[in-house]
Amino acid sequence: MIESDIKAKLSFSDGTPDIDLPIYKGTVGPEVIDIRKLYGQTGKFTYDPGFLSTASCSSKITFIDGDKGELLYRGYPIQDLAGKCDFLEICYLLLKGKLPNQTEKSGFEELVMHHTMVHEQMQFFLRGFRRDAHPMAVLTGLVGAMAAFYHDQIDYSEPMARHIAQIRLIAKMPTLVAMSYKYSIGQPFIYPDNSLSYTANFMRMMFATPCEPYKINPVLVKALDRIFILHADHEQNASTSTVRLCGSSGTNPFAAISAGIACLWGPAHGGANEACLDMLTNIQNNGGVEKIGEFIAQVKDKNSGVRLMGFGHRVYKNFDPRAKLMRETCYEVLNELGLENDPLFKLAMTLEKIALEDEYFVGRKLYPNVDFYSGIVQRALGIPTDMFTCVFALARTVGWIAQWEEMITDAEYKIGRPRQLFIGETERIVPAVAERK
Ligand code: CMC
Repeated sequence: MIESDIKAKLSFSDGTPDIDLPIYKGTVGPEVIDIRKLYGQTGKFTYDPGFLSTASCSSKITFIDGDKGELLYRGYPIQDLAGKCDFLEICYLLLKGKLPNQTEKSGFEELVMHHTMVHEQMQFFLRGFRRDAHPMAVLTGLVGAMAAFYHDQIDYSEPMARHIAQIRLIAKMPTLVAMSYKYSIGQPFIYPDNSLSYTANFMRMMFATPCEPYKINPVLVKALDRIFILHADHEQNASTSTVRLCGSSGTNPFAAISAGIACLWGPAHGGANEACLDMLTNIQNNGGVEKIGEFIAQVKDKNSGVRLMGFGHRVYKNFDPRAKLMRETCYEVLNELGLENDPLFKLAMTLEKIALEDEYFVGRKLYPNVDFYSGIVQRALGIPTDMFTCVFALARTVGWIAQWEEMITDAEYKIGRPRQLFIGETERIVPAVAERK
C-alpha cells in the first residue's frame, strides 16, 4: 500500500461533509488522488468517460511524458533502446525489469526460440476460417483458441504457469501471424526455423515458400525488429487496459490477450496504421499531392467526419518519439530497396509538412504518431495493409503479458468493476402485450 501525508480536501455544496483524500506521488509523472473511499464516505462516484483523468492502476513498466515527447521502458529512453537492443532483449526487460546480461540474453533467446512451433491441430482450426476474413479477426480467434490448445496449465495463480504462458505467447505469436497470412494467400505454412533470430524467423515464415531458398536481408530484419521494439508497450492504452480488465477476473491469459487484440484492431488504436495507408493511397489515387489542400480542408471541417490518420495522440502533445525513430527507419528501408522516390512516401512527407505548419494542427498539438510512418515501412517490407495491425499485435503481446503479470502480482489486485451515472428510466411496470403502444 502506498502511504501519503498529503491530502486533497473535497467540499460539497449539497451539505455532504468535506472529506480528505490522500494524494500519492509516483517516481515521476502527475500525482494521483486516491478516491477509493469516496463512495463509502459520500455515496458518490467519480465520472470520467474515456479515463481522461483516471489512473486505473500503479505500474513500474512504461512511462510516457506526453508534453516532452518522452517514452521510457523500465526507465530506459526508447531511442537508446532502439539503438542498442534487439526485440528479445526488450521482451526480457519488460517482463523482468532489467536488461539481460550476455548469459541471460542467450538463455532467453534459446527459451523463446524453442517454443515457436504451434500445435499441429492449430492449422486445422485455422482452415475453418474464410480465406478472405480480415487477418485481425482470424488472429483474435487463433490466440483465443490457444486457451484450448495449451490447457495443461490452468491455475494461473502459480508463477510457473504464468511464466510458461508468457513464453508461449511471445514465441508463438510470429508463427500464428505468419500462418494467418499464408492461409489468406493460399500458400503453404512455413514452419519456424529456430536457428534464425526471432525477427528473421518471422520474415521467413511470412515470405518464404518451399520452392526456393529465402534470403535474409539484415537491413529489413533490423527495420522490422525496430517496429517490434517501438510497439512493445505503451502503458495503460485501450488494449492494455482491456487485457488488464479481462484478466482481472482471473480468466485464462490467452483469452485476455485475445481480448487485447480485438481492442487493438480499432482504427483509433492499432488499426490506425492500416487506416493511414488507406488514406494515403486514397489521396494518391485521387489526384495525389495536388489534392492535399482539399483533403486538409475536409479534415478541418468537423462535419466531414474525416481525420488525418496517423496524427494526434491522447497522451503525446508533442512529437511521438516513436514517430521520429520510425521516420528514420522509413528512409533506411526505402534506400535499401531503391524506393527513395516512392510516391506514397513523398505524399506522406508533403502531407506531414503542410499539417505541421497549419494552425488547426499546431493549435491542437496534433503531431504525427508512430502509425504515420509504420505503414509505409511495412508496405515496403512486403507486408500487406490488412496485416499491419497483426504485426502491431505481435509486438504488443509482450507489453500486454508483462502488464497482466504485474496486475496479478499486485497486492492491491482486484477484479475491475467500473460504475456508472445511470440516466435511463427508473422502475416501470411491465404492461400486458395488448396494453402496449
Ligand atoms: N485529425 C483531425 N483532427 C484531429 C485528429 C486527427 N487525426 N486528432 C484529433 N483531432 C482534433 C479533434 O477533432 C479535436 O478537435 P476539437 O477540440 O476542435 O474538437 C481535438 O483534436 C482533440 O481530439 P480528441 O479526439 O478529443 O483527442 P483524443 O485524445 O480523444 O484522441 C486519437 C486521440 C489518437 C484517437 C485521435 O488523435 C485520432 O483519432 N487520431 C487519428 C487516429 C490515429 O492516428 N490513431 C493512432 C494513435 S497512436 C497508436 C496507438 O497508440 O494506438
